[in-house]
Amino acid sequence: MQGFSGAPGREGPLAEVPPAGLRRIWMWGILIALGGFLFGFDTGVISGALLFIRPDFGLNSFQQGSVVSVLVLGAMVGALTSGRLADRFGRKRALEVEGLVFLAGTVIAVFAPGYGTLLAGRLVLGLAVGAASATVPIYLSEISPKDIRGRLLTLNQLMITVGILVAYLVNLAFSGSGDWRAMIAVGAVPAFVIVAAAVLVLPESGVWLLEHGRRGQCRELIASVTNTATADRLIERYERRTSEEAAREPRETGARALLGTRVRPALVVGLALAALQQFAGINTIIYYAPTIIEQTGLTASNAIFYSIAIGVINLLMTIVAIRAIDRAGRRRLMLGSLAVMTVTMVLLGLSFVADWSSELSLVFMVVYIAGYAAGLGPVFWTMIGEIFPARAHAAGSGASTAVNWASNFAVSLAFLPIAGAIGQGETFWIFAAISLLGLLFVARYVPETKHRDYAAIDADLQRRFGRRPPENAAAGG
Ligand code: BGC
Repeated sequence: MQGFSGAPGREGPLAEVPPAGLRRIWMWGILIALGGFLFGFDTGVISGALLFIRPDFGLNSFQQGSVVSVLVLGAMVGALTSGRLADRFGRKRALEVEGLVFLAGTVIAVFAPGYGTLLAGRLVLGLAVGAASATVPIYLSEISPKDIRGRLLTLNQLMITVGILVAYLVNLAFSGSGDWRAMIAVGAVPAFVIVAAAVLVLPESGVWLLEHGRRGQCRELIASVTNTATADRLIERYERRTSEEAAREPRETGARALLGTRVRPALVVGLALAALQQFAGINTIIYYAPTIIEQTGLTASNAIFYSIAIGVINLLMTIVAIRAIDRAGRRRLMLGSLAVMTVTMVLLGLSFVADWSSELSLVFMVVYIAGYAAGLGPVFWTMIGEIFPARAHAAGSGASTAVNWASNFAVSLAFLPIAGAIGQGETFWIFAAISLLGLLFVARYVPETKHRDYAAIDADLQRRFGRRPPENAAAGG
């Protein structure tokens, strides 16, 4: 099903892997993507936990909001700093540290005697969530052969949605006893597994090893999923391509490389998709679904049940996207996704303004989530692992992730006040307009990355931004 392109992979030296080796890479991918699971879990669990923290600590509405959003603030900082950590100490070490920070944040929150400590715990959790959300896509892309890269990268989004759903289910399970500490404590299990996996099982990324002069270790890594002869050949080929690229590219790395004129189109695409993913309104549904559902006239006691339905659709459609992303391509998924999101947001708005039945509003919400999960959700995280050159990879993915969190913060903070001021339905129309603008942006500026190596992706990007592609850019893909 995969692998029609003959162009060799640029992302990492691990370009060709036989089926037995691929199974190992998938296992690594799943362990790495536990970082995504914790992202989903810790953002999802609070909606239920808060119902019981509120009476326990006597929180006013500002304090409640701050317990939710302080995590998003921490995530912004975590996303910005983790790129440096991952470049300096390696992807594996970064993930290990992030797992430990997850554990620390969970312990602080679970044993918090009062509001202040709980807030501190949520901030620490946010640092880990943001850092993991930036590290996981880099790590995944650097261990994946090109032909399964799309699917491996969507594992991140899949695990985010699994994390959200598990959080909703955990909320339901403990809602009888009202034990909010137990709800949050469940997150310690995957955090522990991440640390153990990073110490015992996961390999360091081949790209990072070569860039830090650890050729022997890289050879061992590749040989563990192929054989030594292939390892030597792949490393040589990778080094040849890297030095060819170095001859025609500037030598800057990190943030400096990111701001260079050559990488700017990728930066514009990464940041715009990051903002679009949030400003199209996804987390108003994920975080506030019960509130919205209640306003359609259904009882609050059904809210948790319906939020689980939303969690399930989110997960199922993400699986559909994973199956399609390497076949249909990123652009088609994203354009279809934004079209569905635009139309359903118009209808959802109408259903509020014209006072249609609450069942109809619910249907539009579910179709909107399905549209998001089949495209914009996974494709954003996939593309920020693909559009940046290796020397700007960590910085580019970190900056895009930080903008994603900043936008998330802005939207989730502003949603309720804006809806209160201009009306719920009218607010959904704003999301519809943003989705439509996003559709136009994607159609014009976002390159296809399916089955392409970096040179071909870059050539497409330069062309879309009206620049002349570099000489000898491969036409792979
Ligand atoms: C977004 C999250 C969102 C989730 C929903 C992710 O891609 O970054 O903000 O809550 O999708 O599935």
